[in-house]
Amino acid sequence: MAENEQELRAAAREFGQEHVFHFWDSLDEAGRASLLHDLGQVDFKLMARLAKEWILNKPEPEHFKEISPVPVIPKTDPSRPDAQEAWEAGEAALRAGRVGLFLVAGGQGTRLGFDGPKGSYPIGGITGKTLFEYHADKVVALQRTYGCVLPWYIMVSEANGPATEAFFRDNDCFGLNAKDIAFLTQRMVPCMDENGKFLLERSDHLAMNPNGHGGCLTAMVECGVLDDARSRGVDFLSYFQVDNWAVKVADPYFIGYHVLRGSSMSSKNHRKHFPREAVGVHCLCDGEYRVIEYSELDIYPQLLETDSEGKVVYYAGNPAIHILSVDFVQQVYEKFDEFPWHLAHKKIAYIDDSGALVLPEKPNGYKFETFVFDALRFATHPPVALEIDPPGEYTPTKQFDGENSVVEARASMSRYWSHWLDAAGTTVPRDSAGNPTIAIEISPRFALTQEQFVTKSKAKPWPVTQDLYIDGSGVVRASINRN
Ligand code: UTP
Repeated sequence: MAENEQELRAAAREFGQEHVFHFWDSLDEAGRASLLHDLGQVDFKLMARLAKEWILNKPEPEHFKEISPVPVIPKTDPSRPDAQEAWEAGEAALRAGRVGLFLVAGGQGTRLGFDGPKGSYPIGGITGKTLFEYHADKVVALQRTYGCVLPWYIMVSEANGPATEAFFRDNDCFGLNAKDIAFLTQRMVPCMDENGKFLLERSDHLAMNPNGHGGCLTAMVECGVLDDARSRGVDFLSYFQVDNWAVKVADPYFIGYHVLRGSSMSSKNHRKHFPREAVGVHCLCDGEYRVIEYSELDIYPQLLETDSEGKVVYYAGNPAIHILSVDFVQQVYEKFDEFPWHLAHKKIAYIDDSGALVLPEKPNGYKFETFVFDALRFATHPPVALEIDPPGEYTPTKQFDGENSVVEARASMSRYWSHWLDAAGTTVPRDSAGNPTIAIEISPRFALTQEQFVTKSKAKPWPVTQDLYIDGSGVVRASINRN
């Protein structure tokens, strides 16, 4: 996109956004360059369309003739013949180097309110290990297990990219090879006020937000990820979110089902236990795979149905864990003009015409985002939906306390790994509700699965009189909280 002043002024004028040059005469060279840089990223035509469709006219919700639950592959029971076949196909793809990793870490992490990229949050209650390190530990262990390289693509935004890259550098990429890790920066989009006008955050800077996790579908092509993946023989990308410490990165079962069924894009699902559980629902709408957001449940009330036993009929919750075929990402990219956008009414800080900063007390504008799950509707080969058990797979960290929080994530670690200790013959102290009374962390470098843990434990009991951390070499460490 052009960064030329005249062209950008002309575009701003044509699309009614000329006010963004209000402070131009007072800006120094760096300020002008900053404003032009922001404007150079703006797709004025797209923003005008979004303002017209979403802000100036309120769109009607989509109408579907028929909505039905997605066919879900039940939780993986290793004794099922298809599960065995899937496991073997997934392992074969890993050994052959056909799998890459795609982490989305470009979000603003507003709810957590942490000063730094969300991935650098010290999630380990004992170790203070960060989310990034937990993911990296799994990558190291997988590479060792399968004798492969798993190229790791990490999507960041302009706001957190430099800090994220510095964090990896300062930690020597957690022992991974730096040339197998690539950072890509997603696009930003301008926030708009209630009349569809861009807001200025500073005299030389638009109020902008990253274009949502769906932005990975353009960033992968534009930043060379697909080319790199193809040059390495990678056909499948294991997609995961930075704030889920528990995710099974490059899970062989999941990859295997994706491969065997020739899927374009696959999703894991976790069972909703009550109709208004705050999670998007994976379903079929007029034959297309969709995820209907939690906020839209009242528009499609059938999604709240329960059966005669009180179980949720549309139970496939979306934990945002996917496999994307490389060729499919390219196909979605070609059609990105048709990709849906979502808007959120938010409090957006801005400067007024006098240059004074305004911190609104109620929502005053809109942020536009794209969501990766909307790619499902473009699938040319039927998506796979695989049921999971959230413990050990899905524990998102959105805030410090309460639901989906740091506190819950830390408790989930102790609970999850206490079962491994039980299986290895160590009795974990528990309270009357069955929760461990000590904190537990086990490095994924030591064991990725309960089976590996039991084998490596060699029937020797682990000391569980105080908080227990087992490091990558199987050495028991005392509390080493690095906070
Ligand atoms: P969330 O929607 O939960 O956003 O992102 P967030 O940034 O983590 O937190 P809040 O909503 O501001 O509190 C889910 C995942 O998608 C990534 C996030 O980094 C996280 O891994 N994401 C989100 C992006 O990579 N880019 C985006 O534009 C938005």
